[in-house]
Amino acid sequence: MQQPVPLSANWNLDQIPWAAIQADRVRQREDVFYLVAAASFIEITSELYTDNLTQRFADDEVVTAWLHDHWQKEETRHGRVLRGYVEQVWPEFDWPQAYRAFVADYSQLCTMEQLEPTRGLELVARCVVETGTATFYQALAACADEPVLVGLAQQIRAEEIDHYKHFFRYFRQYRQGEQTSRLQVMAALKRRALEARRGDAECALWHVYGVRQGLGSSQPCRLQGT
Ligand SMILES: [Fe+2]
Ligand SMILES: [Fe+2]
Repeated sequence: MQQPVPLSANWNLDQIPWAAIQADRVRQREDVFYLVAAASFIEITSELYTDNLTQRFADDEVVTAWLHDHWQKEETRHGRVLRGYVEQVWPEFDWPQAYRAFVADYSQLCTMEQLEPTRGLELVARCVVETGTATFYQALAACADEPVLVGLAQQIRAEEIDHYKHFFRYFRQYRQGEQTSRLQVMAALKRRALEARRGDAECALWHVYGVRQGLGSSQPCRLQGT
């Protein structure tokens, strides 16, 4: 596999070297297209689940400040960057059309009722999500074979790991006060892991697929209501 582009040593996710993308190395990779497009939908929609979370932590200024000032900004930026990559490499894909359908569908799934019953349990459940996304970007970096995308995936992965560390630290603080048992924690981990397997990623892929294949985008993901 080709090494990531040795772009400027200090480029970051706000300064993507778009002109350095080697589109011919990735344009035929349908698998990569679906992965990147679906990830862009979920990441750019982070406002939806940040609002739910900040309501849950309304009187905790430390957590809400981090959610607003760091976490949400970084997740949204991941989405913007991945959208830019899709639009540059696969310009024929109607990203806005597919995204509108995704949001209409996904917003029904993203409700306060889906949060864990206590703050500590929600925080530890978030660790599952961040671990999963870090693993996703690690896999994307390993299979992408396009240097700019590899670099993006590596940088995003590093930020997902940092998110995990924050959620885990806050979880430990809350756990002491809530005195949750190990069994409760394990149950929360399991619930979120199962939800992650059948939830947002499948919904995003569904709408990317619908528009990519010219099937129309108005059909809701079949997960809705299940
Ligand atoms: Fe992210
Ligand atoms: Fe994250």
